[in-house]
Amino acid sequence: MKTTTSVLQRCLCLFTLTIPVLSATYSLSDNVVGSGFNSFFSYQAISDPTHGRVNYVDKGTAQSKNLTYASGNTFILRADHTTTLSASGPGRDSVRLQSNKQYSTHVAVFDMRHMPQGCGTWPAVWEVGNNWPNQGEVDIVEGVNDQSPDQVTLHTSSGCTMPSSRSMTGSSTGTNCDTAATNNAGCGVKVNGANSYGPAFNSNGGGWYAVERTNSAIKVWFWPRNSGSVPSDVRNGGNSVNTGNWGTPSALFPSTSCDISSHFGPHNIIINLTFCGDWAGSVYSSSGCPGSCVDYVNNNPSAFNNAYFDFAAIRVYT
Ligand SMILES: *[C@@H]1O[C@H](CO)[C@@H](O)[C@H](O)[C@H]1NC(C)=O
Ligand SMILES: *[C@@H]1O[C@H](CO)[C@@H](O)[C@H](O)[C@H]1NC(C)=O
Repeated sequence: MKTTTSVLQRCLCLFTLTIPVLSATYSLSDNVVGSGFNSFFSYQAISDPTHGRVNYVDKGTAQSKNLTYASGNTFILRADHTTTLSASGPGRDSVRLQSNKQYSTHVAVFDMRHMPQGCGTWPAVWEVGNNWPNQGEVDIVEGVNDQSPDQVTLHTSSGCTMPSSRSMTGSSTGTNCDTAATNNAGCGVKVNGANSYGPAFNSNGGGWYAVERTNSAIKVWFWPRNSGSVPSDVRNGGNSVNTGNWGTPSALFPSTSCDISSHFGPHNIIINLTFCGDWAGSVYSSSGCPGSCVDYVNNNPSAFNNAYFDFAAIRVYT
């Protein structure tokens, strides 16, 4: 009896201590809306490390070709959809944005109305450090060739694995996050819900993605536009958010057997849209897409009419 009581007291004591962690509140640090995207992010005219059929252009080119467009609470980022490409020339013009700031512990909410769709497309919204893979990578929105659902993935150096059973609504595709041990696949989680990605996401008016990173877990949530369970602080873009009210995440990556503080450094937020390449190219035919990926991208500009992101806002909380 005595033992039971003291164990109970200790448990209550621990429970009291953990409440502030369970109901973490964060304050708005960056409210990125419309033309604010052009100062929050830098345009990176670099070659694609994943070998895509893409030509990332600089800010002046993107704006003069209307590949990025800001008005009111709209920011569009798109690929060229009018030019037929020469097979021997550069790939399709597109845009890669990298945030000027870096974040460690933080929450980011992505309010998105539309994401790029079309055979050959490989869009991504993700976070990565200066020293890959030692500072880790968190892919929040990613997929290829219109294949739903969204896949959330961590990529790390060795010594970071995930428990096979976790409190999340998505399903694990692998538990070892080490890029070297998994042929760069990392530890992925498929989000539960066809409208989390591609044409189904778009026809539903998009929705909200959110990531929370602390030293005890990395979590990603997705709420479709018309969902009844969108937290009010997410829907309204409040000055603070309380992730303790957000419910079970779509993807949970706990620190149980992955020391998050040593496997993840300060991260930039990156938005990019590439074509074909290591992932979209290799599964292009099995995705039900016509011909060869590079030929399709070169010769069918109008197939990329809907290869664009439309962001209502990105809000970062710290
Ligand atoms: C685009 O995003 C994906 C995100 O996972 C990444 O693997 C790829 O290297 C990126 N491409 C470029 C050029 O940044
Ligand atoms: C640029 O793109 C936006 C968004 O798609 C569109 O509304 C606008 O008409 C375009 N501007 C020009 C000059 O084509």
